[in-house]
Amino acid sequence: MKISASILATQITQLSEKLKSFDPAAIDFMHIDVMDGNYVPQISFGEAITKEVSTQTSIPLDVHLMVSKPEDHFTKYLDLKSHFVTFHQETTNFGVRLSEEIRKSGSKVGISLNPMTPVSTVKHLLPYIDMILIMTVDPGFYGQKFIQGGLDKIKEAKDISSGRDIWIEVDGGVNETNIADIARAGADLCVVGAGLFKSGDPSENARKLKSLAS
Ligand code: DX5
Ligand code: ZN
Repeated sequence: MKISASILATQITQLSEKLKSFDPAAIDFMHIDVMDGNYVPQISFGEAITKEVSTQTSIPLDVHLMVSKPEDHFTKYLDLKSHFVTFHQETTNFGVRLSEEIRKSGSKVGISLNPMTPVSTVKHLLPYIDMILIMTVDPGFYGQKFIQGGLDKIKEAKDISSGRDIWIEVDGGVNETNIADIARAGADLCVVGAGLFKSGDPSENARKLKSLAS
């Protein structure tokens, strides 16, 4: 299991200090939740903060675009050499073109599905993507409760993508009580916010989650 640390759950003023303490062997990706106050209620951060993070850590970026019309925003994150750029299935009519443009830049493409969006809706996009992100909360806030129905969706995503080099990422409410079930269902990568930053050392928490998942 790989872990992507959601910086949405940190105090942004302390981020620089925290980044220095992250162990790249425990925290595999920096999860950047870009929120526009339109597709989701809150505005979080955008290009400037993402750039700061990219200059202060060698941990690769996992950018999660929670924005309406991602086609108007994504190029900024390609310029920052993000490892993954993920957009929401519900936000664009141009998934194929967008995926091709992300791939052309060298970044990997993720497609995110809200809890109400069926896995079957990504079927025709499979040749163009590298990751399916299963949202296990309604997007918009950290610290929400994991939606149990997500476990079936992880299995479905694993089945529909079998035989292809596609990762399954899970985002929302992942913690010590559910990561073993999430791993068994077939997830490759978990986003963790509150579960890493609420208390204790984030790298230590990530190590513990990984051992529970193995
Ligand atoms: C929710 C975000 C998540 C969130 C995860 O909309 O996409 O990445 O920050 O935080 P936790 O793990 O606390 O649910
Ligand atoms: Zn996210």
